[in-house]
Amino acid sequence: MSENLVTVAYICAGALFILSLAGLSSPETARRGNLFGIVGMLIALIATALSIEPSGYLPLMGAIVPAAVVGAFVASRVKMTEMPQLVAMLHSFVGAAAVLVGFATYIHPAEEQVLTHAEHVIHTIEIFVGVCIGSITFTGSIIAGGKLHGKISGSPIMLPGRHLINLAMLAGTVLLGVLFARSGDISDGVLWLGIATVITGIIGIHLIVAIGGADMPVVVSMLNSYSGWAAAAAGFMLANDLLIITGALVGSSGAILSYIMCKGMNRSFISVILGGFGTGDGGEGVGAVEREQGDVVEISAGETAAKLKAAKKVIIVPGYGMAVAQAQHALAEVTKMLRDGGVDVSFAIHPVAGRLPGHMNVLLAEARVPYDIVHEMEDINKEFPQTDVVLVIGANDIVNPDALDDPNSPIAGMPVLHVWESTLVIVMKRSMASGYAGIANPLFFRENTCMLFGDAKKAVEDIRAAMG
Ligand code: TAP
Repeated sequence: MSENLVTVAYICAGALFILSLAGLSSPETARRGNLFGIVGMLIALIATALSIEPSGYLPLMGAIVPAAVVGAFVASRVKMTEMPQLVAMLHSFVGAAAVLVGFATYIHPAEEQVLTHAEHVIHTIEIFVGVCIGSITFTGSIIAGGKLHGKISGSPIMLPGRHLINLAMLAGTVLLGVLFARSGDISDGVLWLGIATVITGIIGIHLIVAIGGADMPVVVSMLNSYSGWAAAAAGFMLANDLLIITGALVGSSGAILSYIMCKGMNRSFISVILGGFGTGDGGEGVGAVEREQGDVVEISAGETAAKLKAAKKVIIVPGYGMAVAQAQHALAEVTKMLRDGGVDVSFAIHPVAGRLPGHMNVLLAEARVPYDIVHEMEDINKEFPQTDVVLVIGANDIVNPDALDDPNSPIAGMPVLHVWESTLVIVMKRSMASGYAGIANPLFFRENTCMLFGDAKKAVEDIRAAMG
């Protein structure tokens, strides 16, 4: 395949990747976005395969075919809730690939390359930075995957003076980088690069073990960004434009996603990286004991069904508990029954509801809830005062009024859904336990709030039975 044709194929693939990211930004266009990504990747793979010497076809197939079989097998079996683990594992591969490409390019530079001194220095820095980012991504992703799988304890492991340890390792890596750039001999260079790989690998482990298991979604998104930059660095090493473009797209979109997640939780990115949050054991929650909150009013499934049927406008707020209980299908049926009965039903989605970006949207789409009744927080918050009944199902932090009312609350300033502004709020959960942030929720004690205790799926099924 001629070089020009490969360039055209790479430009097409790059454009398709951009369209893919644009499509993935909304549930209505997500399928199309996925399709663009698949076609772009196919074009990239075919163009890359055809651009090498025919003698390389056999080893290439020997690597691609088993990898594709294993990839398809693993991806087809993974459960929705295990997606972050799979993504973490895939990031570790990108990190490992960047490390291997770095070593290979250093030991066997492309034969036709004749570099000026300045180009040589830049190329050496590319290799060093690419290998270091790759090594942090590799070990960090393995630890993140282990924590998400529950194979490694979710509690943060914080060594005394850990920031100093990290700083010392970082300084050591910079020093090794200088030695590597100055080494005239390949064996010396490999030695410095090898030591730097080990040290940055330890930094990856040390950084991620210090972060609580509940913060792992943000960490996985951050590692997604790192893996993109590692791929871009590999692109520079191999002088492959498509790898540079794709790596930069993944790197920047991962960074933006991490920022959006932190903003939705009203936490600084640095506070997530420093660790130690979200490790509560789901007990009664800070403030529940010290602060006398008043009485809780309980409601039954039968009464809830009657209130819902009598309402003109209902808003449903799903949260992490709906995902745990897998209540979305029964909820979709209740929604249909209400809408058939003339009730105006909408869903309110908080940007960090659940534990993954878009968690609730995916579950509701799976249960075939129509997209046009699913609204983002900014759009629906103004509708609560005109709402007769709000059904909060397995959500807690995202409907906590303390975020607005109590400047000392750990979630003060976090944007929340103003459910309490409606006429009646029915909260479905199993107990008075706290959510992810480990804090009490005064919503449960408000005069217009009733609690429907029990597993969310069972409770929704009871409501459905009472409605029928
Ligand atoms: P949470 O505040 O975690 O509350 C979930 C509630 O669901 C719990 O209080 C729990 O109460 C209830 N629950 C659990 N299992 C249940 C079941 N089987 N049936 C009924 N209820 C059940 O969830 P949220 O309101 O969705 O808020 C999300 C939180 O996660 C936020 O604090 C957010 O910052 C954080 N977070 C989100 C993300 C993303 S990207 N989405 C990433 C990291 C962290 P009971 O135990 O009493 O049932």
